[in-house]
Amino acid sequence: MTVSVGVVGSANVDLVVRVAALPRRGETVLGGDVERSSGGKGANQAVAAAAAGAKVTLFARLGDDESGRWLASQLAARGVTLGVTRASALPTGVALITVEEGGENAIVVAPGANAELDLGDSDLRAFDVVVAQLEVGDRALRQAAAARRLVLNVAPSRPVPPEVLAAAAVVVANETEAEALDLAALASAVVTRGAAGAVHYRHGREVARAIPPAVDVVDTVGAGDVFCATYAVRLAAGDDDAAALRYAVTAGALATRARGAQGAVPTTEEVNRWLARAS
Ligand code: RIB
Repeated sequence: MTVSVGVVGSANVDLVVRVAALPRRGETVLGGDVERSSGGKGANQAVAAAAAGAKVTLFARLGDDESGRWLASQLAARGVTLGVTRASALPTGVALITVEEGGENAIVVAPGANAELDLGDSDLRAFDVVVAQLEVGDRALRQAAAARRLVLNVAPSRPVPPEVLAAAAVVVANETEAEALDLAALASAVVTRGAAGAVHYRHGREVARAIPPAVDVVDTVGAGDVFCATYAVRLAAGDDDAAALRYAVTAGALATRARGAQGAVPTTEEVNRWLARAS
């Protein structure tokens, strides 16, 4: 069965510089050359869901500029359909990313056109699952809340309209983002903990936990996005909580093995090979 996924989210041009160690506040450091890659939490999740075998539509807003056209072509090449292509008066979103040796990163996003995303009368109920993150404005988030099943990734951390949080079938957060959540008040929440894996809570009570495989980490940018997207795809495909979590931590770990947010997104075959090896 092919799962249909709607992604409501951002598309950014990622400008990445590699450094020995991330700069401290007030510090200037020298890095390598600037690398441009396709990114944005929404676009990364759309590409990861497509690689996991889903039929994916990304609802995103791009600027009427070279970056917007480049991102659209990158997404099409990865099998993602663009749901909203209306040009914005604002420029395409940009993420300034530094990645240190060992793969950790720091990111600043200039949202540009992402902030103006408006789904109009798009029918989100047509999708088996909808995934949304917080790099778009509240209007788009409220529209995403109409989904039959919403997986809400509360990244980057910022206030979320309460009705959107309440509409989410599952809320996904990393450890820092989870500090702003009342897990006990959420029907279902997943907290990711990097190499330590992920934990699934129902009303604050742990119901599943999974540990990722050990891999040689090159770049952690986008690993959380791969986790969210593949978790949503596997849930919609009928996996139980534990199986979906195992698949997602494995896919997230495999995504750290090459440069770029979309550079090492694993296919279903790859993830299943690693899962078979682990069992
Ligand atoms: O989650 C990683 C993403 O965050 C990057 O691709 C960047 O664009 C920012 O949105």
